[in-house]
Amino acid sequence: QFFKTESRDLSGKTVLITAGPTREKIDPVRFLTNHSTGKMGYAIAGEAVRMGAKVILVSGPVSLAPPKGAEVIKVESAEEMYQTALAHFAEADVLIGTAAVADYRPKYIFDEKMKKKEGDQALELERTKDILFELGQRKEAQVIVGFAAETNDVEKHAMGKLTRKNADMIVANDVKQAGAGFGADTNIVTIYKKDGSKDELPLMAKTEVARRLLSEVVLLLKKDES
Ligand code: CTP
Ligand code: CA
Repeated sequence: QFFKTESRDLSGKTVLITAGPTREKIDPVRFLTNHSTGKMGYAIAGEAVRMGAKVILVSGPVSLAPPKGAEVIKVESAEEMYQTALAHFAEADVLIGTAAVADYRPKYIFDEKMKKKEGDQALELERTKDILFELGQRKEAQVIVGFAAETNDVEKHAMGKLTRKNADMIVANDVKQAGAGFGADTNIVTIYKKDGSKDELPLMAKTEVARRLLSEVVLLLKKDES
């Protein structure tokens, strides 16, 4: 096999990635979701394959082609994504959570299509599991990378997520900036690490963000080995 990049620094490593949105059922014809397209996660999966990793991509519903060489497991709900990621966490050396997991789901799923009535309708919601947090609790030697989509106080929120989720790195983007966030082919991110360092990257292609982030992961894996 031939690869575009020389660097095969992830050979022998298993990289588990969550990507895309989740869908939380309301009734047989409706669900709650968000604008995630999965591009960032799929770009990371593609780059990780190129760097020699075994890649397990747990993906919510997206319309992207599966990255060549990655094992793609399609899921719908946050609960399904959690169960699937959990089942593969022990074999993973690296966990990268790019998924826009729904934080809430309808508390009751209606068996039949909800019929409209006069007046307002409330929808009761309950929390889903925080996948990154749950796996962070079960962390052994894994390097854990989270994303954070913020609209304000980016640094404060990103650092909070870093500690709360027991992550090694948080890749934060201000989704209000043009060229960052949902659906774009580019992103503007700042990488926050456990050692307190922060690396503000300029606007770049999501594939380039993927390479930068995976080279940071390689460094962390090497540090763990030494
Ligand atoms: N995440 C997750 N499971 C969830 C929610 C989030 O694994 N149920 C992961 C995301 O994939 C991302 C990171 O946690 O890597 C941060 O997600 P984000 O939505 O920015 O943060 P939350 O912790 O959900 O907090 P909030 O939405 O309130 O900012
Ligand atoms: Ca959230």
